[in-house]
Parts: sequence; C-alpha cells; structure tokens
Amino acid sequence: MYTKDQTIGLQASTKEFIQNPHNINIIQLRKLLKFHEYQYYVVAEPLISDYEYDLLYQYLKNLEIANPALIVHDSPTQRVGDSLNNSFETVAHLVPMLSLENSYNAEDLNDFHRKACEGALLNDITYCVEPKFDGASISLIYENDLLTSACTRGDGVAGEDITQNIKQIKSIPLSIPMKALGIQQMEIRGEVIMSKKSFDAFNEKLKENNIAPLANPRNAAAGSLRMKDPREVANRNLDAFIYHISYYTLLPGGVIPELLKTHSGSLELLWNMGFRSPQKEKKVISNIQGVIQFCNEFEVDRDSLPYEIDGLVIKINDFALQEKLGMTSHHPRWAIAYKFKARQATTILENIEFQVGRTGAVTPVAKLKAVAIGGVNVSSISMHNEEYIREKDLRLGDTVIIERAGDVIPQIVQSIPALRKGNEQIITFPTTCPVCDYALEKEETEAVWRCNNPLCSAQIVERIIHFVSKDAMDIKSFGDANIRKFYELGLLENIPQVYQLNFDTIGQLEGFGKKSVDNLKAAIEASKTQPLHRLIYALGIRFVGETTAKTIASHISHILDLESLTEDQLQAYDDVGVKVAKSIYQYFHEEKNIKLIKALEALDLNMIQTNATAVDGNLTGLNFLFTGTLTQLKRSDAEAMVEARGGHIVSGVSSKLNYLVVGEDAGSKLEKAKKIASIKIITEGDFIDLVKN
Ligand code: IVH
Repeated sequence: MYTKDQTIGLQASTKEFIQNPHNINIIQLRKLLKFHEYQYYVVAEPLISDYEYDLLYQYLKNLEIANPALIVHDSPTQRVGDSLNNSFETVAHLVPMLSLENSYNAEDLNDFHRKACEGALLNDITYCVEPKFDGASISLIYENDLLTSACTRGDGVAGEDITQNIKQIKSIPLSIPMKALGIQQMEIRGEVIMSKKSFDAFNEKLKENNIAPLANPRNAAAGSLRMKDPREVANRNLDAFIYHISYYTLLPGGVIPELLKTHSGSLELLWNMGFRSPQKEKKVISNIQGVIQFCNEFEVDRDSLPYEIDGLVIKINDFALQEKLGMTSHHPRWAIAYKFKARQATTILENIEFQVGRTGAVTPVAKLKAVAIGGVNVSSISMHNEEYIREKDLRLGDTVIIERAGDVIPQIVQSIPALRKGNEQIITFPTTCPVCDYALEKEETEAVWRCNNPLCSAQIVERIIHFVSKDAMDIKSFGDANIRKFYELGLLENIPQVYQLNFDTIGQLEGFGKKSVDNLKAAIEASKTQPLHRLIYALGIRFVGETTAKTIASHISHILDLESLTEDQLQAYDDVGVKVAKSIYQYFHEEKNIKLIKALEALDLNMIQTNATAVDGNLTGLNFLFTGTLTQLKRSDAEAMVEARGGHIVSGVSSKLNYLVVGEDAGSKLEKAKKIASIKIITEGDFIDLVKN
C-alpha cells in the first residue's frame, strides 16, 4: 500500500508533528493516522508507540471539535459510533454468498482437480491456496472510495446490516483508493476473526466478571458482530481478512486492472488498497500434487498461526477459467475447502460425576485434567451411559484420547490401556440417585439408568430450567444459575411458581438491582402469550421435541384437547409414532400433569392454538427432515423455509417422510431412509432449488 519512500516520508512527518504539534493541517494529520493504523492493524509492524498514536488521534479529535465542518466520513475519528445505532436491517447481497464444497484427503482433491480439468478441457491447472479462516463471514460494499455498507452472510441471499460494528475493526479501511484504479463500486468478502491472544484475554475478562467463557474464537467473532453497541465491538480487538472480490463496476473509461485477471492478483490488489488480504499467506501452485503436499505440510503447522483456521481453500487462479467452470446453486466449481482433521489430545480421566436430568436420566460426566484442544480448554465430557463406559473400557486414572472436530462437542475416542500403571479403578454405576438416593431403574430396551422419584430435587430444577429455556417459553434474563439459587432459597419450587415469584424478596438478593428485577418481571409476563407449541414443548413430555410439539399444536385448538385423544388418533399425525403417542397419552392421563396445566391456565398462560391457519405454499403437505451438517444454510433457517412454504418438519425417518435433505457426515437417518423407497433423498443444493421453484 505504501512505497518505501512514502513510508519514510510519513514517518518523518509523524516525528516532526510529535515534536511540534501545531505545525500541521487536518488533511495531513488524517493521512498520518491512517498510515499508522495500517502499519499496526494490517501489516502488524507498528512504527510508533501507542502513546504517540493517541497523541495524534487526540489532536485530530480536538481539531474536529473546533471545526466540525471539516469532519469527513472516513476520518479515523468516525469509526466509533457514540450511540446504540445498529439497525441490523436485512440487506440483499449484490451477489449471493455461496459456500464451498469440502474435501478431506488427497483423493477428494484429485477428484476435484479431475472434474475441473474435464470442465476446462485442460490437462493442468494453476491453483492459489490460502487459509480457511475460522470466523464470521462478512460482505462489504465500497462506492466512490468509501465503505458504504457491511453485512453478515445471513441466508446467503441477504444478510444483516452491521456497518457500524464493522467500522470498529481497524484493519478494515473506511476509504480506499478505488477511483485511482478505475473502479466505481466493489463488493468484497472476508472473514472477521478474533486472534487466539485476544480471545484468551476476552475470556479471562468474562471469568473475572463471573460470566461463562465463550467456546471458541469463531463464536466470539460472530457474537461480537451482533452487539447492539458499536463501542463494545471496539473493545473486542477484532480483525478481518478479505479474500474475495464478488462484484465490481468500472468508472466510465475505466479498464479492468491487470491484477484482476487472477485470484492471486486480486489478493495483491486488495492488499495494495489497504486490506488485510491473505497476500503473504497465499501460495500459487501449478499442479494438484503440489497442492496436496502444501495441504499436508500446512496442517502440521496450523497451530503456529496466531489465529484459528479450519482448513485451506484451494481456488483456480485464473479468473477466465473460474468463469468458464461457473457455480452450482451452492458452491463454485472453481474452489474447494480442504478441511483439517479433528484435533486430538491426550489427558487423564480424573473423576466422574453423575448428573441427573429433567427426565431422571443419570448421565456420567468425565472430569478430565484440563487440556487445550483446538483453542478450547476441555475439562468435562459426557460419557452418555453405562454401556459407553463399558464398551470403551474407561477407568478412573486412565490416559484417554479426546477429540474435537470443528463445532462438534468433544468426545472421548478411547482409553490407552498400555499406559495403565495398575492403580486405575473400574467405574461402577451408582444404584441409587446421586441427588435423592432413590433406587435407580433401567428399562430393558434402554441404555439409561433413571431416578423415578417425582420429588427428586435435581429433576424439579432441571424441569424448570427446561420450561424457561430459549426453545421453550424463552424467558430471557432467567438463567440456570438464578433458577438454582431461587430453588435453594425456597423461592421457586415448581413450574407455576415461575409466575408467582416474590419480586420484593428477589430485589433484596445480592446482584439483583431494580433493572434486573424489572427485566425478569417483563420477560416472565411476555412468556404468557407464547404460542401453544412452545408450551407443549416446555412441559417436557418424554419424546416430544420442538417438531412434534408443533405437529400436535397444529391439530388441536386447546391444550386439554389432548386429554380426549386416543393413541391411535395421535399416531395418525405426521411424525408421531407408537412410542411418542403412548408417551403423550400417558402424560395427559396423569392427574398431576392436568393439575399443572390448569394451574398455568389460571395464571393466564396461553393454552390455545392462535395461528391454526395452514400456510399454502409450494411445499404444502410435504414432510421434510434434515440430517448431517448443512454448509450453506443454518438448520433453523432451512426448517423455517420449509414451514414458510407450507411444508412440515418431522423428527424421524418413517414412511410419512417425503424428503430427507442430506448434509455432510450424515449417518443412521440416511441409511434408514435408503431402505424406504418412497423417500426422496436430496442434497442441500437440491433443497435450495426446490424451495426456489
Ligand atoms: S472463498 C465463492 N476463501 O468458508 C467464494 N471462503 O465454508 C466463497 N472462508 O462461506 C468463499 N476462509 O465464510 C473463501 N480464504 C477463504 C475463506 C473462506 C474462510 C469461509 C467463508 C465461506 C465458508 C465456506
């Protein structure tokens, strides 16, 4: 971006200004600040101290306060908004934000290369390989040299306006020299990341304030972009890599810059404009064997980078060739992601805790010697049930291999018996409830031991936690810790009491100011009008998840209609099989449950189906199920797309299912569906096409 001579000149002017601050005009001062921001945030080679930077910044700020008419949009002082001015409005992307196809090994990469060669009618292809940044993707628009809009990926077609928050990221320039290159408008793509160092510091701060730490830098980056207050974002030390120009228009008489003929050239152009593109990290390689070797070598070194990456992206370098190959509806045919293998670590299984859930199920949880794996500290992993422990022959004191693949919850892969010293202990499952001492029971067909004591305090608390949770009654500001605290203090002993809390007493508890009490009160009140399906789900009826709750709600007008339905009638509903029907029937034939529902009705909770009119769309009458990891759509968005078009989501594979949409790493549902001829098995791309039509 800056030539050597420019750098020397700007540095000399800076020193001169610091010695004699009055001898400068506002334009020159902004130039200096912009230069030092670039050196610090993009090149990572600061040329002045933080103190000296602050001096320049403050001087500019004062000059602007004295002369407001001289303030310009791209002044370094204009990053920080001074109000909660995020709109998060939906903005359509100029070009859809597609995803990438994934590859995991040499064979996949050779396959990709073969198809590309066939499509391009060539024997060899030159690729550009760069890191796959593990953050939150963004799309930026610059017009006439200025940053005009920034948004999240959203559903790929439209995202949320986060311009104010993006302006807080100092490696994203507020203005760039486009006009000088003959470009009028440009839409670019990149990834906002939080470096490992900033993530650790951020989590440290959370811990100091008794707030649960975030799971990984990706979540931290994505969450930060959706903060209401841009000033908060400024405190989070975010960074951004820009790796793609998705669209541009030329000024009248402008010619396509030479660098815009290849991907590696475009990274250089972005770098020259002042962006942190992967200009130094990228590698141009002229054959697929070289690409495979580079991928293998890079994977070994992945942890040496100061930020998280989850793989590499391999892109055909020549833009004309990219154009020739084009895209499918969800990914370009000219690029592929090479995903790194799951990270593994070894640690010691030190202890075991038996936790009692809301249905009384007792889950063994391994307490491990804390170990960092993929940037996350792991010290606790579920061991699911007794069989799992026995099958893996896990013993207290064992050295175990644990694994974390991307977003996936950590798992114990195996123990290492060869490292046993002889004092490891076989894990014995308790015969009585670890909380209330009631004898545990196990049904023949189940792997789970249960405490069937209806008065078990652990279950009561877990049932209340489930009732208020996000997917159930969604009572915001009512966290698990508060529910446990209120229970221990005798302020909340059952679900109806959620609506009968004594706020005077709560207001006197430590940590409960007027504002938090008011928020809690309002959230509880608001939950009374939640739609019926949320209440059905919140009751925690066994085998009734969100989807089944929606199905049931769509067939009744009042919740107590369920008292009069037979198991056969229930089974006639999509998604309700023998087991589910039996469980619902039993629930509505137990006096204590009917009493609970009537108590909630007396407390004014909504009991009726308010939006029973079915949507008539192009998927009306069709049942869908998603399995595996979707790469372009969030699963909740995809499900909402089905429902918005009159389709229905079911939770299991049966002959009632019309479409199984298969993402990555699909497992048993796919296998089961293959055996039922009437089910159409489609990919995520097919699904998007289906929805569009
Ligand atoms: S190229 C059409 N390059 O990975 C071009 N994407 O799994 C598509 N990502 O949605 C994107 N680093 O958010 C590209 N160097 C990189 C990337 C990258 C991270 C993300 C991006 C994309 C996702 C696909």
